[in-house]
Amino acid sequence: MGGKKKSVFFCTGCGHESPKWLGKCPGCGEWNTLVEQVLQTSRPLGRSKTAAREVPVALPDITADASERIPTGISEFDRTLGGGIVPGAVVLVGGDPGIGKSTLLLQASDAIARSGETVLYVTGEESRSQIRLRASRLGVDSGLISILTETDVSHVLEVSASSPPSVLVVDSIQTIYHADANGSPGSVSQVREAAASLVRFAKETGVPVFLIGHVTKQGAIAGPRILEHMVDTVLYFEGDKRMPYRILRAVKNRYGSTDEIGVFEMTAGGLAEVADPSGLFVSKDLPNTSGSVVIGVVEGTRALMVEIQALTGLTNYSVPQRSSTGVDRRRLPLILAVLERRGGLSLGNRDIFVSVAGGVKVEEPAADLGVALAVASSYWDVPVDDRTAVFGEIGLGGELRRVTQAGKRAQEASRLGYSRIVLPRHALPKEERPKGVEFVEVRTLGEAIDTLLGSRQSRHAAKAPAQTKEA
Ligand code: TYD
Ligand code: MG
Repeated sequence: MGGKKKSVFFCTGCGHESPKWLGKCPGCGEWNTLVEQVLQTSRPLGRSKTAAREVPVALPDITADASERIPTGISEFDRTLGGGIVPGAVVLVGGDPGIGKSTLLLQASDAIARSGETVLYVTGEESRSQIRLRASRLGVDSGLISILTETDVSHVLEVSASSPPSVLVVDSIQTIYHADANGSPGSVSQVREAAASLVRFAKETGVPVFLIGHVTKQGAIAGPRILEHMVDTVLYFEGDKRMPYRILRAVKNRYGSTDEIGVFEMTAGGLAEVADPSGLFVSKDLPNTSGSVVIGVVEGTRALMVEIQALTGLTNYSVPQRSSTGVDRRRLPLILAVLERRGGLSLGNRDIFVSVAGGVKVEEPAADLGVALAVASSYWDVPVDDRTAVFGEIGLGGELRRVTQAGKRAQEASRLGYSRIVLPRHALPKEERPKGVEFVEVRTLGEAIDTLLGSRQSRHAAKAPAQTKEA
């Protein structure tokens, strides 16, 4: 490479690398996220001195130590990890600032310490006394947890190497810097270098490492996405900050499935596990209100019943508003177009709001039918019977498509007392249907609307498509 300084540009959102500055990142499509980084040319490359030289080993001679996992002691956390912490694994826990990442890891540290293992909790975010205050609020008081307030990664590694803990937590990776790397703490190169040293440490010593990363929308602080390819497991902690529920979701996992989720509730005493979350995302306050439909969604090995709410009304603007939270933004226009074309709704002059109760995100296509019916129900102001659950993907022709794991969705609906399920034809064989539930197979969105909201004539008799602005 020679001694010449070379610079490249990195996207702080997704880590995309470009030789020149661009306004829009080709990686993630965000604007103004590329920042310049001078590349270090003098950094010694190659293997670290401490690592022993590896020799090839015949495959059958390698023992897989699957049993060695350390449970975090928080079963929702363990579930998301794929059954506990794997030795030497590096787990990235990302999420918006204030969502509860430090709380989660401090509570996990406590549970790990209870099983007799040691935890080194490194923080560059808070002072020792701030941690102490949070710990006492959470009832965490174990001598097996040590707190290190430090931001220099080489000191962190020195401390960790001299008396290796069972688990190392770094809160947050954006505050840690590497003395030999360029840029200020939080920059792409610093975050990458610091993380790389910690990954090397984990692989060499077998100590599992948790890296906390704040999701940043813009600015000079690099987001956790730039580390996703370097670590073994990526978990995101999500939720609406105004709501108590939090979801821990695996988006990458070398040691387990990626569609598992863990569900928590933020309480005054910290995060509480929600072992049976299914009923949480259905609001029972207003039975038989139009615009509300319950759907069956599947997250990993778990089915959840979730309520989709929609509100439509004549617009006061020249361009009607379309707003959605919790549902797939790209599918909403498609669903609305099919509703207009095949469902007989005229939505051109209507504001449409769609949201998911409880702040959960539902992005699978199986939610299509629920979204469409919620909008139609609000449009005609005809409620959907609240003992009915639906699921199905909508095609552009208005046809309903089968979805995965229909049996699981139906079982969950039955368990929670739903007595009727509207689903695509052939979605679920007769012998897999739970007893005592009426199954209504529909071929098209039009049929689903007729089944749930009455025939076209009766809808119009009940209410001519609202001339007034409807609440
Ligand atoms: P925190 O773990 O500091 O978030 P992060 O590390 O992701 O930035 O938690 C932030 C919020 O959680 C904070 O606004 C207060 C709330 N909280 C509670 O409601 N109960 C608690 O017991 C704790 C510790 C925090
Ligand atoms: Mg924090």
